[in-house]
Amino acid sequence: MAAVAERIFSGVQPTGNLHLGNYLGAIKRFVDLQKGRECIYCVVDLHAITIWQEPEDLKRHIREVTAAFIACGIDPKANIVFNQSQVSGHAELAWVLNCVARMGWLNRMTQFKEKAGKDRENASVGLFAYPTLMAADILLYRATHVPVGEDQKQHLELTRDIAQKFNNDYARTIAANGHEDGYFPMTEPLIAGPATRVMSLRDGSKKMSKSDASDNSRINLADDADAIATKVRKAKTDPEPLPSELEGLKGRPEADNLVGIFAALSDGAKEDVLRDFGGAQFSAFKAALVELAVEKLGPIGGEMKRLMDDPASIDAILSDGADRARVIADQTIRDVKDIIGLVRG
Ligand code: AMP
Ligand code: TRP
Repeated sequence: MAAVAERIFSGVQPTGNLHLGNYLGAIKRFVDLQKGRECIYCVVDLHAITIWQEPEDLKRHIREVTAAFIACGIDPKANIVFNQSQVSGHAELAWVLNCVARMGWLNRMTQFKEKAGKDRENASVGLFAYPTLMAADILLYRATHVPVGEDQKQHLELTRDIAQKFNNDYARTIAANGHEDGYFPMTEPLIAGPATRVMSLRDGSKKMSKSDASDNSRINLADDADAIATKVRKAKTDPEPLPSELEGLKGRPEADNLVGIFAALSDGAKEDVLRDFGGAQFSAFKAALVELAVEKLGPIGGEMKRLMDDPASIDAILSDGADRARVIADQTIRDVKDIIGLVRG
């Protein structure tokens, strides 16, 4: 069986506080990519437990990410939307890939270093092996393209290294099993647009993050209009008016961030925003940004709340998606077992 021409896969962790960075860097792009393509969007719950999660919160957050996908415009009938733990192939393939990936490769992962912090001895083994599970998510569907934010670039490079080593190590049996040009594709990251790395509203040198202690640092997808307006108005800026050219954003991380957010929300480029607001004071720019953000994000928060009132419908979507994902995943697991020499009944 030849690899499919184009297949999109991406995942979001159910760790609470879905924010504007998740939306602009990932989910909004998932929505744009679904037109005319086969897309698989996964709530990666097995990734979430690499760090402690309260069981009740985890359940709620899995449903919340699903609700966000749908509220943002992902069609769960035309695409596959499911949570990772319902398809056992993810964990199975991750084990095989743990035996392909090298310690040295994983030791270089910067996200592990950031997340483990100083107390590395006390980090879970799962947190260290997290990138091989991510490679398994992608390769289980032999996905060709993965839309993600900038912070995932290194994990996507690792995914290609793992795919390449698997294809090389098992070249003989891959060919003998009738697969031309290797078994796993060289997956391409899709990291593009004006908001691949949305920064904190309180500190332009820090990424907007779910785990930032200050809620004012991020706009949550579940925020109402008042909260959005307050956070934009309080966002850190500098005293200069906005520049008219991109060049003028250099060394002004807060201005750059707000311009990028405006551009992404209005489906334009930073240049377009500067053409309209070059020379304007932040007070005027922020007023326009509040209006835009409330117009675009307000309905998403409302729809998420409505969907969350009916958890049974969300669970039905996940279960249907998992059934359809399993069909593809099971075939890959059968192929991989044949390729590596495991006996199957
Ligand atoms: P996570 O919440 O870590 O599962 O991230 C889900 C998706 O959102 C991934 O594609 C991330 O790269 C993306 N993402 C997370 N934070 C940001 C950010 N501050 N700016 C842009 N994209 C982000
Ligand atoms: N590691 C990603 C993040 O933290 C989430 C993720 C897990 C993912 N598996 C994936 C993203 C597969 C893209 C494809 O954001």
